[in-house]
This record gives sequence, C-alpha cells and structure tokens, in this order.
Amino acid sequence: MPKPILVHICSKCDAQFPRWSGRCESCGNWGTVSKDPTDVSGDTRESLTSDVGRQEAGGRKLKVEAFADLKSAEYATAKPTGLAPLDAVLGGGLAHGSATLIAGEPGMGKSTLLSQVALAMAAQGKKVLYVAGEESPKQIGLRLARLASVVPPTLAYLDDTCAENIAATLADNKPDLTIVDSIQTAVSNQASGEAGSVSQVKTCAAILTQAAKRSGVPVILVGQVTKDGDIAGPRLMEHVVDTVLSLEGDRTHRFRILRAIKHRFGSSDEVALLDMTERGLEVLENPSGALLADRSDAPGSAIGCVLEGRRPLLAELQALVTAAGYSAPVRKATGFDTARLNMLLAVLTRHAGIGVYDKDVFANAAGGLAVRDPAADLALAAAIASAVSKKPLDPKTALFGEIGLTGELRPVPLTDLRVKEIARLGFSTIILPAASKQPQIKDVELKTCRTVRDAIERAMR
Ligand SMILES: Nc1ncnc2c1ncn2[C@@H]1O[C@H](COP(=O)(O)OP(=O)(O)OP(=O)(O)O)[C@@H](O)[C@H]1O
Ligand SMILES: [Mg+2]
Repeated sequence: MPKPILVHICSKCDAQFPRWSGRCESCGNWGTVSKDPTDVSGDTRESLTSDVGRQEAGGRKLKVEAFADLKSAEYATAKPTGLAPLDAVLGGGLAHGSATLIAGEPGMGKSTLLSQVALAMAAQGKKVLYVAGEESPKQIGLRLARLASVVPPTLAYLDDTCAENIAATLADNKPDLTIVDSIQTAVSNQASGEAGSVSQVKTCAAILTQAAKRSGVPVILVGQVTKDGDIAGPRLMEHVVDTVLSLEGDRTHRFRILRAIKHRFGSSDEVALLDMTERGLEVLENPSGALLADRSDAPGSAIGCVLEGRRPLLAELQALVTAAGYSAPVRKATGFDTARLNMLLAVLTRHAGIGVYDKDVFANAAGGLAVRDPAADLALAAAIASAVSKKPLDPKTALFGEIGLTGELRPVPLTDLRVKEIARLGFSTIILPAASKQPQIKDVELKTCRTVRDAIERAMR
C-alpha cells in the first residue's frame, strides 16, 4: 500500500505543502504551518474517485420538483432599504434572501454606509440585526448616535462572531436585514485556521449565504480589502454571494464611489457618487463640480471626462515632468494606470514629437478619483504636453478620447452625455475624436481631431 501523503497547511493563507516547515513559503508567516486535520490521505482519495458505481450506491434518491410550483412571485421584487444611493446601485433594493458583499479598503466607510442602511430600515419599523465583529457594540452605538438623532428600538445587535451561531439566530429571530461586520472576523467550527484565513472566510461566507437563502433574510457582509489585494479578500467570496458592491475612494479625500461589481438581480451599471461627511455618506449632487472645485490653471493640468457606470464625470488630470538626472527616469501615476501612462509616453514620443525619455514623469487624477476610462488618455496626454512646454492650457477647454498605439484618436462611448456634462460646467471648447457622433450644443465649439498630434496642437494653441 502506498504511503499516504500528509498535507501540511498554513493557517494564515491556506497554502498546502507536503512537509512541515517553520515558515510558510507562500505568505512568509512563521509558525503557521501544521498538519491538515481534514486531509484525506492519498490512497483514500484515489478510491473515492475511482469507483463511481459505489458512490451512486451510497446516495439517496430524491424527489424533483417543478419550478412552476414555486410560489416565488411575492419575492420577485427587491425591497427598498430607504437609503437612496444604495437602492439605486442595487436597482431598487435588497432581494429576498440575498447575500450581498460590500468590499472596500479600511476606513473607506463600509461600517458608516451599513449603519445608515440599518437606521433607514429601522426608521420604517423594520427589524435589523447588526452583528458586531470588528467593533464593539458600544463603538457601533456611538456611530449610530452620530448619524441619527434617534436610534429606533428595532435596531438590535449581536455580539458574536461564530458563523453557526449567527445563522441559527437569524433563522430564529427573522429580522428584515442582517449585517455582518465583517466576514474577516467570523469563525466557523467547520473550517481550519484563524479568523480571516482563506478557509474561514470561504466557509463563513457559504454558511451565512445559505442561512440567508433558507430564512429569506437579506444578509449584507462586509469584506476588507487591502491596497495590495488581501489574501483572504473578497475575490474568494465573489462566486458565493449574489451581489458584490465595492466602496472605493482615496482615504485622504472625501469622495467615494459605490458600484456593483456583480449583481445577480439586476444591472451593474449604476454607481453612486458620495461625499463622506460627519452625517455619513451623502449623495454628491454635482460630483463634477466638486472634483473641479480646486482645479489648477498652471501648466500640466487638463480637464477630461470619464464615465463611472453611465455617469459622465469631469476630472482634472495633472502631470509633472522634470529632468531625470543620472538615474533611470521615474514614471509614477496616482489614480491612473502606470502601464497606460508608459504607453501614452511612448506614443507621445513617437507620434507627437514630445520626447520625455530623459525626464521623470508623475501623473495624477485630482480629487482621489481612480480613472479607468481610456477616454482620459487625451486629457492626460495634453497635461503632459503642457507640463513639457510649461504653457498652461485654455481653462475653458476640455478634452476626451482614447489614444491608440499608432497615435490615432479613437472614439469613446456616450459622447453626447460627456459633451452635455462638459457644457453644463461652463466649458466653451471640447477637443474630441473625429469619428465620434457629434451632438449640437449651444455655445460650445467642438473641435474634432484624428490624431493625438493634431489634438495636442489645437489644445496648446
Ligand atoms: N465625525 C466624522 N466626520 C467625518 N468623517 C468621519 C467622522 N468619523 C469618521 N469619519 C470618516 O469615516 C471613515 C471611517 O468610516 P468607517 O469606520 O465606516 O470605515 P470602514 O470602511 O468600516 O473602516 P474599517 O475597515 O476600519 O472598518 C474615516 O476614515 C473618516 O473618513
Ligand atoms: Mg468598519
């Protein structure tokens, strides 16, 4: 009989090794590797998969049922939570028995947003259960008191982190909403490792999602992510839960974006643009205005237009270009993809005659915005050109368009929405790709260009 292979497992990151070691080779933690108690030894594993007939023999025959017999119509519509931006992103509200994950970096405002949801639902007389894992009930109580003048009596807390206990309480108490803050603090008897480890997070998310489905109580889970992608981060749970929301922003700014990354019950196009205030997260009525409030008219600044969901947002793109000295030139971007910045610099050198090979280049999207829309390419290219020539751009000009590798300016979706937003904020000139559909807008001159060289020449005029 072959010797069984004993698996050793790291309690921090769940990496598996054939032999013990003092330090986990995967996550680098010391003293976390031990024998996996749940391991099925090699020969047993083989016998489990080799004899399919025997597996069938061990199973029970179950009754199958018709979907038509399910009385699901009453659960078909999502119920509003009463917190407008969340309801908008969820396409109406929370679905019956749904599991929603809110992911975000520490300090982003996840607990604040969920306290606001809890208060909004409790204010309608609904029962809300807040499971305190990360903060003590007293700390949560203080936040609730800051956010609302009265904390309704239907808003209750549970001071426990055991997933099985939470699931049992949920089935018994039947609240209208359960919030678990956070999944990284939950523990299950059925998983190995400490709270926050891969197996604990996965098992607890599965237990709580099943509890939501069985009881019909919507459950919201908080998931922590770190800037460099936490190993026990929400990616692990994405396929388990019904909806994944992400609360994004820059901790040094007040601006936040709530977006749906995955949504089983509706579209994931809608985003909420929020402002972190002492009364909690509030809807920004004029996000473009807020983002441009402190704009600079110095060389190296250009105004672009990016889409968040289907919402056009004006963003200030900034560039700083300085002599690199003797070392290799530095290229750094904040709120913009560094690889894309490098690509833009190469295109500018090759196709627009703007050589920066011996210069350090720093790029920034002002206001803490994380720009992903390629339509911001042209504004950043113009900001770099302006920084190189030390000549400011016309403050009443905005630009948008994607830049291709051959120096061509490519059209971007929803040109008409972008043009309207730029016009609304009082700009008089827009530089955009020639192939775009051109809406007619009063008092705004549209300058269409085919190449990045042409666009930059017109912007610098
Ligand atoms: N009195 C206040 N006025 C304005 N903003 C505040 C106030 N108190 C807290 N904040 C903001 O709330 C943020 C923390 O929010 P919250 O605790 O909801 O974040 P979180 O995402 O739950 O963080 P964690 O991951 O640490 O649990 C702070 O970074 C701060 O910006
Ligand atoms: Mg929190």
